[in-house]
Amino acid sequence: MALKYDYYLFDFDGTVADTGEGIRKSVAYSLERMGFPPLDTATLSRFIGPPLHDSYVEFCGMSDDQAERAIELYRERYVDVGLYESRLYPGIAMLLRALRRAGAWVGIASAKPQFMLERLSKHFGIDKYLNAISGTGLGRHSADKQDLILAALPQGANVARACMTGDRRFDIEAAVALGMTGIGADYGYSAPGELAAAGADAVFDSVSDMALRLLDGEAPRGLFISLEGSDGCGKSTQIALLKAYLEKRGFETVLTREPGGCPISERIREVILSLDSKGMSDECEALLYAASRIEHVREVIEPALKCGKIVICDRFLDSSIAYQAYGRELGEAFIRQINAPAIRRALPDMTLLLQVDRAESRRRMAQGAPLDRLELEKEDFFARIQAGYEALAQAEPNRVTTIDASKSIEEVAEAVKAAVDGILD
Ligand code: TYD
Repeated sequence: MALKYDYYLFDFDGTVADTGEGIRKSVAYSLERMGFPPLDTATLSRFIGPPLHDSYVEFCGMSDDQAERAIELYRERYVDVGLYESRLYPGIAMLLRALRRAGAWVGIASAKPQFMLERLSKHFGIDKYLNAISGTGLGRHSADKQDLILAALPQGANVARACMTGDRRFDIEAAVALGMTGIGADYGYSAPGELAAAGADAVFDSVSDMALRLLDGEAPRGLFISLEGSDGCGKSTQIALLKAYLEKRGFETVLTREPGGCPISERIREVILSLDSKGMSDECEALLYAASRIEHVREVIEPALKCGKIVICDRFLDSSIAYQAYGRELGEAFIRQINAPAIRRALPDMTLLLQVDRAESRRRMAQGAPLDRLELEKEDFFARIQAGYEALAQAEPNRVTTIDASKSIEEVAEAVKAAVDGILD
């Protein structure tokens, strides 16, 4: 993808992350410690973005020395506690990833201390998408925004090919003064009209609209992850942990399952799994899974991927290969053929195959809910399924990652995380 600019810089607070809570609480703490009257939430929010020193002087009437003392107290709470009272704006992580993947230079230019920016970037896992992080030192005088911006660019960069996105006029004014394009992030902490007045080329009130502009009309495509394994492999637990991990990293996720995932497919699921369906022909079963899949892809998976979300799907096509092609011995060609309408539209970018041996899987299943029609099948059926999964892992090693799921929940979660990081970063 050819991008309009070579360098994409971002302010941090109010643009990349909603750091408001930690900042407000830490300012309130410093005022209390110094015996200054408390401020209302709106005024506390005005501390987000500009240099703290200026805000203490302007909003609390402090002297320079008092402001320095207030900053010391503020940091006392902020460094260990307040820093982590923040979250990435939904969609930002995927935008930074998409820019970096498209070959752009991606940097942060913020009046926040350098070490805090580095810690937070690492905490959220966006450090992998950043070429440069430019923040302030801990000295008495905060750096000028123009200097911060220049420090986030490589030596000799042509500023005409750079754009700076920020949520306060300081960001935009500095960008414009340097001859760069200023893009306004109106979802942050700007006052009405502030960013346009400062000379922003465009102002956006959502990350998704901003991403369309920064990526020249192409929304970042999401990521499709499926989890597979025989019954009792611990998929559900790992799926919940994976979702929480991705959300902590600021990605938007959609958790779904097969068969099912949308109203029509959930009705098909009932037909397939019900004990009333005993005696269903193998072909009918395979076609029902395929029918539920095409609906699910159209209704849920495709739309989510189009808007940059990470789809975590509990089983997908590989289940049909393992269970119907191998388990029911219907053959891979037939299964791929009936699933063609679905997989033409979406195939997992990554499949995690959780493997446990049959004895362990039976032990785990015996502790769970009553068994459904498929779980009541005979042993040789499960042996064939296992062979099917192994064949898939061998045939598509780039997509299918096998994970030893007989280990502890924590160990399996670590392996899942490492595999997903591998494709995300
Ligand atoms: P479910 O209760 O979701 O099982 P699990 O928790 O093990 O995922 O039931 C889904 C069952 O359907 C499971 O036994 C596997 C089977 N299945 C197939 O045979 N083919 C398929 O294409 C899919 C998606 C599932």
